Amino acid sequence: MSPDSDIHSLRVDYKHEPLTEDSLDPDPIAQFRLWFDEARASGLPEPNAMTLGTADRSGRVSCRTVLLKAYDDRGFVFFTNYGSRKAQQIAENPHAALLFPWVALARQIEIAGPVEKISAAESLAYFMSRPIGSRLGAWVSDQSQIISSRSVLLAKFEDLKNKFADGEIPKPDFWGGYRVIPETIEFWQGGGDRLHDRFLYTQKNRTWSHVRLSP
Ligand SMILES: Cc1cc2nc3c(=O)[nH]c(=O)nc-3n(C[C@H](O)[C@H](O)[C@H](O)COP(=O)(O)O)c2cc1C
Repeated sequence: MSPDSDIHSLRVDYKHEPLTEDSLDPDPIAQFRLWFDEARASGLPEPNAMTLGTADRSGRVSCRTVLLKAYDDRGFVFFTNYGSRKAQQIAENPHAALLFPWVALARQIEIAGPVEKISAAESLAYFMSRPIGSRLGAWVSDQSQIISSRSVLLAKFEDLKNKFADGEIPKPDFWGGYRVIPETIEFWQGGGDRLHDRFLYTQKNRTWSHVRLSP
């Protein structure tokens, strides 16, 4: 028997307040803000960490964690390397899903829709707000490429530190943001006896509507 044979007994019965139709904001971005603010106030570590799912042109899927850095009516923004595996997949298939897995709150939010690069000006504004080490790190990493050792990274970091010692660290052209433009947003609240609450918002002709889904 495998040492993990007791996984089947891991079970939490959620005792959180149900999510009701009356309490929902008709605008899912406002509802997102409400829940995001509650997640921040709850002390969850990195509440802006979200799972980003992408697929290549043949439909093979991959996912990874990225950090939400901005959101508004236009969509949800994260930053990354434009040469990375995710960027390659987005170039082949410009659709993505985002998932906020706020398990400690028995909540999740899933957002899906097309993805586009944000403007270079927007990326630059955020890049310049980052600490120096993060700015250098963006230059150092050929994200998702094979490297022989950590020392290669450290040597490159030192080289770049010297190269940019006298001035500003510019934004690399290969680094910037993407915006996921929401077509659907689903809010999930765990309930007792697996009677969870799910509300799915869908946008059509710039108007949002929502329905309740069975758990
Ligand atoms: C908590 C956390 C936050 C992360 N935030 C980012 C991020 O904002 N941008 C990013 O490019 N990678 C981030 N990463 C690393 C990615 O998960 C991933 O390893 C990297 O982007 C390469 O993904 P890819 O090869 O699919 O392109 C984060 C990882 C963790 C665990």
